[in-house]
Amino acid sequence: MAELQLPAPALAGDVVRLRAWRAEDVPGVVRAFEDPVIRRFSWRDEPFTEPEAREHLAGQEWARSNGDALSLAVVEPGDERVLLGEVSLHEVRPTRGSAAIGYWLAPAGRGRGAATQAVRLLAGWAFAELRIARLELTCGPDNTASQRVATRCGFSLEGLLRSHMPFRGGRRDSLIYSLLPGELT
Ligand SMILES: CC(C)(COP(=O)(O)OP(=O)(O)OC[C@H]1O[C@@H](n2cnc3c(N)ncnc32)[C@H](O)[C@@H]1OP(=O)(O)O)[C@@H](O)C(=O)NCCC(=O)NCCS
Repeated sequence: MAELQLPAPALAGDVVRLRAWRAEDVPGVVRAFEDPVIRRFSWRDEPFTEPEAREHLAGQEWARSNGDALSLAVVEPGDERVLLGEVSLHEVRPTRGSAAIGYWLAPAGRGRGAATQAVRLLAGWAFAELRIARLELTCGPDNTASQRVATRCGFSLEGLLRSHMPFRGGRRDSLIYSLLPGELT
């Protein structure tokens, strides 16, 4: 599939700016994944070493070049060096008009609407620029903070995906939400 272009100009609001990952972000990613809350709810349940974090970011760039995903660093709008978290589109399927969205915030980035604004910015861009017709969001049934982000952005809860994904040596159910163009709040 065709490479996904980075949003230009960069997506930004009063709480966050979304930019391409940089080599300098590696220590921040390592620190973020030392947080047990991130590891409890995200796809990765182990901390990163620096080489693993570097490899992870290189993998994201590979996925972008394949047109499969677009991962962006969520940073402070006034100081791009301050990493708050990540927001990403994945499973991008232009012919089906579908994609999924995911996010995490380092502990210091929480409680100020950063995830909500990052999702609003990237979802709006995906609808306008990629012509996405259906955006999916999945999260653990016990991840109430993530569910509040989904609800604030206008996603509708569709149901429970049973045994949805490998998780901590077993499998996990997930709630599935969707957002259609015009529903973003
Ligand atoms: C999920 C996660 C990103 C949510 O973080 P968050 O800080 O709660 O979400 P937001 O950045 O949107 O901030 C919303 C909170 O800030 C408050 N807030 C302050 N100013 C705000 C503003 N301008 N706009 C919106 N919310 C604001 C809200 O009241 C809200 O708190 P509440 O939910 O207790 O009411 C975070 O908990 C996390 O990283 N968890 C681990 C990884 C994870 O679960 N990822 C998702 C996997 S599906």
